[in-house]
Amino acid sequence: MDPSNRARMEAWLRYAEDLRLGPYYRDRATQESVGQSAQPPTEAEIVASATPPSRAIAGAGTAAGRHTSAEAPKPAPVVIPAVASPSLFEEKIENDSLERIRTDIGPNCTRCKLHKGRTNIVFGVGNPKAQLVFVGEGPGRDEDMQGEPFVGRAGKLLTQMIEAMGLRRQDVYICNVVKCRPPENRLPEKDEIATCSPYLVRQLGVIQPKVICCLGSCSAQTMLQTTQGISRFRGEWFDYHGSKLIATYHPAYLLRNPPAKSEVWKDLQKIMAVLGLELPKKK
Ligand code: URA
Repeated sequence: MDPSNRARMEAWLRYAEDLRLGPYYRDRATQESVGQSAQPPTEAEIVASATPPSRAIAGAGTAAGRHTSAEAPKPAPVVIPAVASPSLFEEKIENDSLERIRTDIGPNCTRCKLHKGRTNIVFGVGNPKAQLVFVGEGPGRDEDMQGEPFVGRAGKLLTQMIEAMGLRRQDVYICNVVKCRPPENRLPEKDEIATCSPYLVRQLGVIQPKVICCLGSCSAQTMLQTTQGISRFRGEWFDYHGSKLIATYHPAYLLRNPPAKSEVWKDLQKIMAVLGLELPKKK
């Protein structure tokens, strides 16, 4: 090889190594050699490679749940989901809209056992073009009575959190993993989540927010298809079909554990930074 080309090539390789492109390049080459590179990864592959544990280079992933933290790798177990995530690509409906999703659910949905105890289906509320969507777990008593998410005590705290970010409730969109109240405010069960979450996926597909904020483990675990505890990945960024996803503690947890508010406020400030909202001046 011509010496000047060789020197340039060596400099480039050193640069690539500094950027840690080496292993990435080798992995890709391995995949290509077995003829996989032309195939998009399946949802299961994405999820298996993506669940909170494996840290990836910021911005490298665009698939559901792919981690986009730029932190140094930390050892963590890979969690393979028991249920494949509802695929936005398979379920994608031409010209979908929030009205159509509401109509598809229908006024008297009986698809899961939660219908037995509900008063109202709690579809979701807010700006259909919101840049920020909050996803809770499921309606409580007040929400069931009023047909609107997050209107009880936890909801009032959520409203305060939204206002602390310099937004109003009507600027964001608020919805839940399940649309009917679980009895005695228990956690939604697997079958209920599996039945109802495709509607949430469609809502997010229609709104296409810049940021999705999962409130609490049920929401975070459903969206990221993981069984890991929320404290393992709270405050970190993931990519969810092109939206940035972050999980934080549920406002109901904050009511029981007020010191955790400072952690949540850090997460909200991260969201504000992404949305270009002015951060409060340090006193
Ligand atoms: N908790 C939730 O997760 N959702 C609500 O709508 C209300 C309380």
